[in-house]
Amino acid sequence: MRIAFVSSECFPYVKTGGLADVAGALPKALARLDCEVKVFLPLYSSIDVAQHGLIAAAELKSILVRIGDKDILFDVWYGKLPDSEAEVYLVDCPTYYHRPTIYTNDWDEDERFILLQHAAIMIMQRYNWAPDVLHCNDWQAGLMPAMLKLTYNWDHLFDDTASLFSIHNIAFQGRFGRPTVQKAGFSFDLYYPGGPLEFDDSFSFMKAGIAYSEIISTVSETYAHEIQTATYGNGLEGELAARSTDLYGIVNGIDSEDWNPQKDAFIPYRYSARALANKKKNKKALLKTARLPFDEDVPVLGIVSRLTSQKGIELLQPIINEVMQLPLQIVALGSGDHGLEGFLRWAASTYKDSFSAHVGYDNELAHQITAGADIFLMPSRYEPCGLNQMYSLSYGTVPIVRKTGGLADTVKDYHEYYEQGNGFSFNDYSPYALHLTILRALDMYNDKKAWKGIMKRGMTTDFSWESSARHYLELYKTAKNRHAEL
Ligand code: ADP
Ligand code: GLC
Repeated sequence: MRIAFVSSECFPYVKTGGLADVAGALPKALARLDCEVKVFLPLYSSIDVAQHGLIAAAELKSILVRIGDKDILFDVWYGKLPDSEAEVYLVDCPTYYHRPTIYTNDWDEDERFILLQHAAIMIMQRYNWAPDVLHCNDWQAGLMPAMLKLTYNWDHLFDDTASLFSIHNIAFQGRFGRPTVQKAGFSFDLYYPGGPLEFDDSFSFMKAGIAYSEIISTVSETYAHEIQTATYGNGLEGELAARSTDLYGIVNGIDSEDWNPQKDAFIPYRYSARALANKKKNKKALLKTARLPFDEDVPVLGIVSRLTSQKGIELLQPIINEVMQLPLQIVALGSGDHGLEGFLRWAASTYKDSFSAHVGYDNELAHQITAGADIFLMPSRYEPCGLNQMYSLSYGTVPIVRKTGGLADTVKDYHEYYEQGNGFSFNDYSPYALHLTILRALDMYNDKKAWKGIMKRGMTTDFSWESSARHYLELYKTAKNRHAEL
């Protein structure tokens, strides 16, 4: 099967969150299942072409795209994902992609991703290569299903191409003003209240993706249900409920080359479920880095997170005094919202022996926290899938999560009587519920035998991409059938 995969980020080239992990790993897993995969993303200025062995495509130079009344030229670089046959194509256009951050609030943010989407289609045309399924991720690729059906429907190359639109986070919808309709090359006839492009007086790339793709997917079954409700749907619940028979949830996997305690090059001591002794050495090393004293009996709670209201770190604020009186230490890594960054800094300066905060983005430290902590804290308000809890589970670091989205699907609350469960979870989005759950986890931490059982159940769960990729393959077939019926 031939798959085109379009994403605004992709590990190891550029990453701000889990989408990059997915875009780096799912194509590789599909290639291992004999799919021919091409990944498309922008060549941001932060990407070092030499470091990644990328090559300028001599045959794809100065390709012209019309965006509104502007003529834009782009070049293309290509390569392969590390240790994979999956190909990557990076769209090189300094005017749009040489900015301090990969997402911006600049006035031409719409144009930046309109270009990516046209460019991906034009590159396929140049190679006379059509995918069986065009897999579009989040709003930055949300217009492509409509582009295939409306803008490029003259090109019979794509006659048999179906589209699948994956929602990784419905809170980000790519909403722009009316003029963007013309910049994207669509007719204003489609832009009317309640129409396929219009959402709440704006042009929404996310809504267009939902309206024009054959199949919609999201990254866990629970989130697929949640986004059909007003609490989680961010206004698009009606559109999604109307397409509920075409809406599927497939939980992400984890890349066992990058996130594996037996191979991890970022952690000082490697270990496995059968040889756990080294985990303690990683804890010691982490506490040294974090400048906190080591005490075997005091559990370390790790946090690695984008700091946004999504992640629920704010639940800690009202209870921080009580929590820090407990026998525990916290090592936190995160960046984002200035208020939450300030809270972490304040906590580190107030609880000098028990709270350490690193404000910033640091992949190596993320690995060291995942390996060195005893407990991982992820009390998200909502979580489409979440990768950190899966990384933690496979590193024997017991997660405390709120029961939502992918967290509900991957973390099973520990049950003392049945000796089941791989972590701790709570329902209510409240500081009180989080506090109680931390207390419950601390209680169990003292029961060494039970704790080891919880750790081992997490470490031996299969979170490999292979099984998720097989589900995607099934879904690609469904998308193709749907397309053939049209
Ligand atoms: P989201 O995509 O919503 O941020 P996920 O759990 O799916 O949540 O993925 C987050 C990814 O980003 C993980 O790989 C995590 O390790 C990484 N990450 C988040 N914040 C940081 C940070 N401050 N430093 C390093 N890695 C981070
Ligand atoms: C989004 C979600 C996260 C998910 C990731 C990859 O960033 O917030 O839950 O794991 O996408 O699908």
